[in-house]
Amino acid sequence: MQSYPLTRMRRLRTNDAMRRLVSEHTLNPADFILPLFVTNGVGVREPIAAMPDVDRLSPDLIVEMCGECVTYGIPAVALFPRETRENKTERGEHAFNDQGLVQQTVRLIKDNYPDLLVITDVALDPYTSHGQDGLINDRGDVLNDETVDVLCKQALSHARAGADIVAPSDMMDGRIGSIRQTLEDAGFHHTAILAYSAKFASHFYNPFRDAVDSNAMLGKADKKTYQLDPANNEQAIQEVALDIAEGADMVMVKPGMMYLDMVARIREAFAVPTFVYQVSGEYAMLKAAAKENMLDEKTCVLETLLSFKRAGAHAILTYYALQAAKWLND
Ligand code: PBG
Repeated sequence: MQSYPLTRMRRLRTNDAMRRLVSEHTLNPADFILPLFVTNGVGVREPIAAMPDVDRLSPDLIVEMCGECVTYGIPAVALFPRETRENKTERGEHAFNDQGLVQQTVRLIKDNYPDLLVITDVALDPYTSHGQDGLINDRGDVLNDETVDVLCKQALSHARAGADIVAPSDMMDGRIGSIRQTLEDAGFHHTAILAYSAKFASHFYNPFRDAVDSNAMLGKADKKTYQLDPANNEQAIQEVALDIAEGADMVMVKPGMMYLDMVARIREAFAVPTFVYQVSGEYAMLKAAAKENMLDEKTCVLETLLSFKRAGAHAILTYYALQAAKWLND
């Protein structure tokens, strides 16, 4: 490269048109996925303490939100149920109930907005009385292969309801291959799998656990025997390689902002769609700072979302999805 004054980096930053002309990344509503919390009832809207402006919604209101997503060009929503305490059982059987809250909501969304993609979460934590993503033995250990059997039933039930993408977020070994085989055997060749491959054992999930009412069930237990240690990155690469080999169509990194190194490495190492999840705790931090007028919400949030694109993400799950799409539309 020639040096100063032949090269003046500031020439390309002189005005907005020039900056737009040379920009390497842009944000588009098509990059966003809106996570939605579903609760029972009709016309029900329940606030979530650590997630200002995000509510749990009954299926009818979920469908209204889906209408807004379609209007603003968001291609997909991801559903997370808040099950009643009666439906939280030792073995999480309600996870694969064809008449369950998620299954009903999927059908309702697809009836109203057939072109909006519906992503469902495959994991048992909203359904277990102990709050773990899988089955446990009497010592409280999370059992791998027994859990995978249940996850297959859950994924199949979601596919039957019409889910376009099933997203295992449980981190059991071998679940992607088993779920793929189950879907193939049942003829669901086009139901895609978004694997939460690089999912770290993060404390930034706390607001989410309140939203689905799994925190209280979990008590003092944690998920460190299956979710990745935040100290590791080689293991995250191995997880992604395994999930792709087992048939994952897309992989995910989670949390987002403090794991951009993983997004960049995974995107570079594997030629597959790489998604990132800006999780509940990241949302809570941004909201809290904005509410205290410490940060300008719009500019800071859009900057975080752009950083995901720069790192290489193809799509972003964020509780700001609809808001960001509206901001981009302004
Ligand atoms: C559970 C699941 C979690 C999230 C998505 N699916 C929490 C956890 O693993 O405890 C977190 C999402 C968020 O924090 O926004 N299978």
